[in-house]
Amino acid sequence: MSKLFSPIRLAGQDLSNRIVVAPMCQYSASDGCATDWHLQHLMQLGLSGAGLVVIEATAVERHGRITHGCLGLYSDDCEAALGRVLTAARRVSPPGTKWGIQLAHAGRKGSQQRPWEGGAALRADEDPWQTVSASAIGFADDWHTPHAATRADMDRVRNAFVAAARRSVALGIEAIEVHMAHGYLLHNFISAISNRRSDEYGGSLENRLRFPLEVARAVRAALPKTHALGARITGTDWREDGVDIDQAVALASALKAEGFDYVCVSSGGNAPGLKIPVGPGYHLPYAEAVRRRAGIATRAVGMIADPHQAEAALTDGQADMVALGRAVLDNPRWPWHAAEALGAPMTVPVQYLRGHAPNWPGAALARPKAR
Ligand SMILES: Cc1cc2nc3c(=O)[nH]c(=O)nc-3n(C[C@H](O)[C@H](O)[C@H](O)COP(=O)(O)O)c2cc1C
Repeated sequence: MSKLFSPIRLAGQDLSNRIVVAPMCQYSASDGCATDWHLQHLMQLGLSGAGLVVIEATAVERHGRITHGCLGLYSDDCEAALGRVLTAARRVSPPGTKWGIQLAHAGRKGSQQRPWEGGAALRADEDPWQTVSASAIGFADDWHTPHAATRADMDRVRNAFVAAARRSVALGIEAIEVHMAHGYLLHNFISAISNRRSDEYGGSLENRLRFPLEVARAVRAALPKTHALGARITGTDWREDGVDIDQAVALASALKAEGFDYVCVSSGGNAPGLKIPVGPGYHLPYAEAVRRRAGIATRAVGMIADPHQAEAALTDGQADMVALGRAVLDNPRWPWHAAEALGAPMTVPVQYLRGHAPNWPGAALARPKAR
């Protein structure tokens, strides 16, 4: 019996398997509104058979976007556009597929060009905006200098997270994920690299966690108990003066105490030029430490592309779920093939059954050989 294909319950939500599509920005929205690109993207990811599909980092306010193309959930128009896409995606997804959304504020990494436009700070003629962070320290020399969040900024951002969470519930989204990693606003507060405040929101770890936990508490209070609530956290900033595994465990424990149901352990993104030992499953030791020491359901992510590796991460107790990013972009049928590899049942849409490998000897010829 495959663990990867066994169910897991998060709050009141039963996921049919432990494969999660990781949140992945598409930079293809129009003033925060989902477009036809999202329609095809989320329809095919819904079809994938993953137990949970997490919609990309979605800005809780307009200036919380990373780029002009980022998805948002800060207006009625945004909500309606995402509703159209989700309704269509649900119609074609296997019954029981759950949908999640990552709610985010870009902080000092906002006001950027889309990656394919260069990914640099927006120039004066590209409609840039004033960014906000824990302290007035830019991400790098040639980036915008953010202003240090005032208490009024913090109130506005916290309320925006709550409003976006409520809109998510209205859209029937079952899992809400708060982005606390990758160098965005809440990570800016958590990490001493970007937080040099001298008030009660800076200095000690307890102080640096204060605002992110305030957001966490407000979002939990706004969600029905049935809805799963998680966070993406950083296991390490890959720098001595940044978040380390002890701080990650402390954050995960605090989130658990606030009623969070799971965390996803990622890393990096809060400083340029980091030396990251990227390799298969490179976040797994961090996920395992968080899982064992904080005792919260933990999702692993990061170069997990082989079904047997995903299965082993679960059976070895390193994680409770596995998220895939690039592997499902490359092959949205990844879960079907993983089920085949692990001998697990999988519901393939009837329209596509004739092309499913066990029913078609030609599959071996059609597939490129693994290098
Ligand atoms: C195109 C793309 C967009 C991404 N956007 C997000 C995002 O919106 N939020 C996030 O937390 N991580 C984002 N990531 C990181 C992925 O969620 C994932 O953590 C990372 O790609 C490592 O997993 P992988 O090796 O399976 O791709 C993105 C990655 C890619 C490739």
